[in-house]
Amino acid sequence: MLRLWGSEALTSLSRVSPREKKLSKVFVTGGAGFIGANFVLDWLAGGHGAVVNIDKLTYAGNLKTLASVADNADHVFSRTDINDRDALDRLFAEHKPVAVLHFAAESHVDRSIHGPAEFVQTNVVGTFTLLEATRQYWQALDASARSDFRFLHVSTDEVFGSLSPTDPQFSETTPYAPNSPYSASKAGSDHLVRAYYHTYGLPVLTTNCSNNYGQYQFPEKLIPLVITNALAGKPLPIYGDGQNVRDWLFVGDHCAAIRTVLEQGLPGETYNVGGWNEKTNLDVVHTICALLDELKPRVAGSYRDQITFVKDRPGHDRRYAIDARKLERELNWRPAETFETGMRKTVEWYLANPSWVADVTSGEYRKWVDEHYCA
Ligand code: NAD
Ligand code: TYD
Repeated sequence: MLRLWGSEALTSLSRVSPREKKLSKVFVTGGAGFIGANFVLDWLAGGHGAVVNIDKLTYAGNLKTLASVADNADHVFSRTDINDRDALDRLFAEHKPVAVLHFAAESHVDRSIHGPAEFVQTNVVGTFTLLEATRQYWQALDASARSDFRFLHVSTDEVFGSLSPTDPQFSETTPYAPNSPYSASKAGSDHLVRAYYHTYGLPVLTTNCSNNYGQYQFPEKLIPLVITNALAGKPLPIYGDGQNVRDWLFVGDHCAAIRTVLEQGLPGETYNVGGWNEKTNLDVVHTICALLDELKPRVAGSYRDQITFVKDRPGHDRRYAIDARKLERELNWRPAETFETGMRKTVEWYLANPSWVADVTSGEYRKWVDEHYCA
């Protein structure tokens, strides 16, 4: 029988006093990034409780994404590096969270190829530092709070390596075989999280999710890059032959899966999260072009005319595919969006929010962060 930590906590939140509610805080690391910010916005909109959002604000972290909750008393933002142990200890002592949801990471494969050191520093050493701070805090809790506490680690399907076209999808027991500095550093963090469960009994949960897409994704990843380049009249770069396959999941579905695992997942378990949407990169780009041709037609021709095949990424994994049946069977989660509905929402969002893209890609945003959060 599964313990319904979150369900109990969430149900009780609706009947507790504002003071008690304040005690039911969760930490979210990386909550100014793409998935973390979507998670924070959904969490606050759903009235699930208070969030302390811990983010270093690298190029990938954007407070503009969180503008709608800037004055929300249930949202506390702390510009903190997860490598800063003293700062983490202070945050734990001050806020006493009931869970840590760990999204913070360096996340872009291409950047990891050009500069792997940051990936090891944040994804491996940073996760280790966060685990150590969490362990110290957790060990001092009383027995009941200790058993209710959760550390949920948000990871990726890329730790499993690359599939051939005929291989079965990744399951939770597929051996790890990471191929890029990004996936290797995420694999390292997954192993540390696992070790903290087996060695210290820290109640951890790990999710391994496929490629996400949706609103607020930084335009360096395939889908937002292609949308923004298309609208700017720039080439749409496709690596290699465009036949690499990814399994796409709408970000809101990933956030719902994380809430489900937090509520109902068994400590020590890992859960694969996927969208049942295997697509070649060329198919994805064609889908974007068709949506743009419909929603914002070019003066002449199709956005497809901008497609350009470019040199392949070194060590480019051929295929990722997730078997998400465990999450469905044990915790009753399935994605709500199809690829078609999710992609339409995403393209419509980027069309409606050109200023978000302009802000996050301009020096203006960095200047604003430095003025407001200079150390
Ligand atoms: P992102 O790059 O958009 O956001 C990462 C966030 O972490 C940023 O806000 C950044 O400022 C913050 N950060 C980076 N280093 C930090 C540090 N040292 N201390 C504190 N904060 C720091 O990434 P994302 O796409 O939102 O991914 C979030 C998590 O989900 C990552 O752990 C990633 O590995 C995982 N994931 C992503 C995908 C995907 O398709 N994007 C799929 C599966 C899993
Ligand atoms: P990306 O969004 O970087 O995610 P990941 O590498 O983590 O899967 O890339 C998705 C796929 O799209 C991947 O196979 C690489 C490919 N790609 C391109 O073909 N062109 C591009 O400009 C980018 C950024 C990615």
